Amino acid sequence: MNDYVRIFDTTLRDGEQSPGATMTSKEKLEVAKTLSRLGVDIIEAGFPAASPDDLRAVKTIAETVGREQVIGRPSSEPPTICGLARATKGDLDKCWEAIAPAQKPRIHTFLATSPIHREHKLRMSKAEVVARIREMVGYARSLCEDIEFSPEDAGRTEMEFLYEALAAAIEAGATTLNIPDTVGYTLPHEYGERIRLIKENVPGIERCVISVHCHDDLGLATANSLSGVLNGARQVEVAINGIGERAGNTSLEEIAMAIQTRRALLGLRTGIDSTQLTRASRLVSKVTGMVVQPNKAIVGANAFAHESGIHQDGMLKNEETYEIMRPETVGASRTHLVLGKHSGRHAFGARLGELGYPVEGDNLDKAFARFKALADKKKRITDADLIAVVSDELYRPVEHLRLDGLQVACGSMGLPTATVRLRSGGAKVGENDAEDAIHVRACVGTGPVDAVFKAIDEVAAEIGLHPDGVELLEYTVTSVTEGIDALGEVSVRVRSRGEDEDQLNPQREDTSQRVYHGHGTDTDIIVASAKAYLSALNRLVAARAAQQKAA
Ligand code: KIV
Ligand code: ZN
Repeated sequence: MNDYVRIFDTTLRDGEQSPGATMTSKEKLEVAKTLSRLGVDIIEAGFPAASPDDLRAVKTIAETVGREQVIGRPSSEPPTICGLARATKGDLDKCWEAIAPAQKPRIHTFLATSPIHREHKLRMSKAEVVARIREMVGYARSLCEDIEFSPEDAGRTEMEFLYEALAAAIEAGATTLNIPDTVGYTLPHEYGERIRLIKENVPGIERCVISVHCHDDLGLATANSLSGVLNGARQVEVAINGIGERAGNTSLEEIAMAIQTRRALLGLRTGIDSTQLTRASRLVSKVTGMVVQPNKAIVGANAFAHESGIHQDGMLKNEETYEIMRPETVGASRTHLVLGKHSGRHAFGARLGELGYPVEGDNLDKAFARFKALADKKKRITDADLIAVVSDELYRPVEHLRLDGLQVACGSMGLPTATVRLRSGGAKVGENDAEDAIHVRACVGTGPVDAVFKAIDEVAAEIGLHPDGVELLEYTVTSVTEGIDALGEVSVRVRSRGEDEDQLNPQREDTSQRVYHGHGTDTDIIVASAKAYLSALNRLVAARAAQQKAA
């Protein structure tokens, strides 16, 4: 049997369905290019029928990724660009419109098959479900050669009915059959058994690739996916950092490294260039605002840290005592001290290139100016600092309002007070954008951060940028590196004030109910907080402007 396992990445589709993980079109394109460089075989670029914005973003990826030479892509084959569609003509037409420009397009269509979905969600009989699969997979195949079909909630579907549904999809022209454990319910031996039975009992299955798509509700997504592969699946659906609906999807980095590290046992391989994993993880974390837990396998900040004396002693004697992978293999360098105050633009650019950030021209100038300002405050500039600086410059949203100055007074006496100076009109995308102007506002709050956010809200309301104000859902501060002079990184999540959290659904078209994230870095955490809040506000305003433009 073929030892090659295809990697199907759904960071831009299932991953983007995590609340608040919404990305701008520019960020989606950047992620798609990174996935291509990483060696992903199939990029699920989005759900084109969700909104005109989603369709446009998928189309841009289809027009760009794989058409241009992506420097560093391990395989000479361009990646397949896939779009998701419900089993309806309307969705399939929109999906095809979006992916048609790709060199290798794929339509992924799905229909639920489990009893609970059939009875309560679809209100369809088994016969009706099979007929719809036949009709819509057939229609999809009339548009595109490469068709993937998913019986949603396959993990809880009766086996006999699953065989029937899959056989109908094959007869109608499906080329890949995906078996989603939509609710993350199955156990590894059980899921593997399902794949084995499907392989043995579905007529025509030998002409198709079997794919696994596992959710992590019981923390078993990676184990279930591997079990599926061991039983004959040759495509694994994954997301960077394991993001996705609820507890998320199988992590790309975990599958890639399990297959690579245990190659002798498994006898399998993927096309992933593992040295790009850390960079891809950081990019996705940055553009989605989904912080990676420090103990996350492969890409967490502590994944290669050794704390206890016994472990450190073992590591000094032989690294294999406590490490099954070298950090370099996943692109996590052990080097810390890299550059300082006297380093030049060339050395700075070269180091960024080595870290996987090929920054040039204007972006390099801006990042270098930030680096110099940081080097004045901080003696030891580490790789983590460099990445924070460059990410701040590269992934900054369109700035309708930006920080020009900030002063706070706080402590245990008197009221915490903040004065902010903001500049508006940097980006004239929406009707509401104010003219280029400076706005100064002072506010008191329960603390300095609250006072700063109130002052920003007042300016945003006064200039008509966002009259309703935003509600802060989450606020976190982390230190980029150790040490008293470390850069502080602030992440926030916001949404328009007064919206009901239960109604959150990132695939709805009404942007007023979406959650937006923002992040900012600075050696002063109040300044970092202001930057993070403005970045989230700017995303919200830009999304609303795009929605108004599309309407
Ligand atoms: O989890 C799921 O069932 C899905 C399908 C659309 C494949 O994401
Ligand atoms: Zn899913």
